[in-house]
Amino acid sequence: MNSILTNRPLLAAEVNKVAEVAGYLWQKGWAERNGGNITVNITEYVDEAIQAMPAISEAKPIGATLPHLKGCYFYCKGTNKRMRDLARWPMANGSVIRILDDCASYVIIADQPVQPTSELPSHLSVHNQLIAKGSPYKASVHTHPIELIAMTHCPKYLEKDVATNLLWSMIPETKAFCPRGLGIIPYKLPSSVELAGATMRELEDYDVVMWEKHGVFAVDVDAMAAFDQIDVLNKSALIYIAAKNMGFEPDGMSQLQMQEMSVAFNLPK
Ligand code: 13P
Ligand code: ZN
Repeated sequence: MNSILTNRPLLAAEVNKVAEVAGYLWQKGWAERNGGNITVNITEYVDEAIQAMPAISEAKPIGATLPHLKGCYFYCKGTNKRMRDLARWPMANGSVIRILDDCASYVIIADQPVQPTSELPSHLSVHNQLIAKGSPYKASVHTHPIELIAMTHCPKYLEKDVATNLLWSMIPETKAFCPRGLGIIPYKLPSSVELAGATMRELEDYDVVMWEKHGVFAVDVDAMAAFDQIDVLNKSALIYIAAKNMGFEPDGMSQLQMQEMSVAFNLPK
C-alpha cells in the first residue's frame, strides 16, 4: 500500500522514532492495552504533494482554538491503539492530521482514517504553546510509568518539587538529563480540556509533568528525547525503591553535590 512515508526519508525517520519509542514503552510495562500516546509536529517535512492530499475523514473539532497551529501537520497515535502494535505498524496505529484554517478542527490525511488519541486536546494545546514560544521541541509523549505513578499516591510527593528533589538525588544523571525536574498536576479527568490547560501551565516550568495517579507527559525535540527524560526519572524511582527494599532509606546526593552538578553542567535549576 502506498504510504505518506514512501520516498520521504526524513518524515519516515521521525515516524520510525515514534515506533521505536512505542516499543520501549511496551517493553518497560508502561503501555498496558492502549495506554499512552505520542504526537509529533511534522510540519517541517510537509511538501506540496502532502499539502494537496485530500482529507480522508470528516473535519473534527480539537476542543480548543489554537492559532499557532494554522497549517500544521501532526503524526498522532490512534485512540485505543496499542503501543506494541504501533511499534511494528506505525501508520496502521496512528495517522497524519492537518489542522484546518479555523485552528479549531482537523482532518486526517494519511495513511488510513485512524482516529487520533483521546488526549489530542492536551497534545495540540502544548504544541500550540511550543510554537508560540519559538521552542525547538516537536514531540510530546504521554505514558504510564509504574513507579513514578505509584509515587503520586502519596500526598508528600504531590508537593512542589519534593519528588523532583528526591529523584534528582538518586543518581547524578537524572538532574543532568531532566534538568527542569518533574512538575505535578493534581488529578483531572483524562482527555479533558481542563487537563490540557493545566498541562500547558505546568510545562512553562518543566519539560516533564505528572498527571496525578495517571501518567507523565513530556516534551522534547523528538519522541526519543522525550522518552529519555521520562526514563531517567523512572530509573531514579527504581533506585529509591531498591534501597527501600534493601531495608534502608537512601541518603541521596546532598544539596551541595546537586548544586555542583548544576554549575558543572550549566543546568537551569
Ligand atoms: P488513547 O488510546 O486515546 O491514546 O488513550 C490512552 C491514554 O493513555 C489516555 O490517557
Ligand atoms: Zn493515559
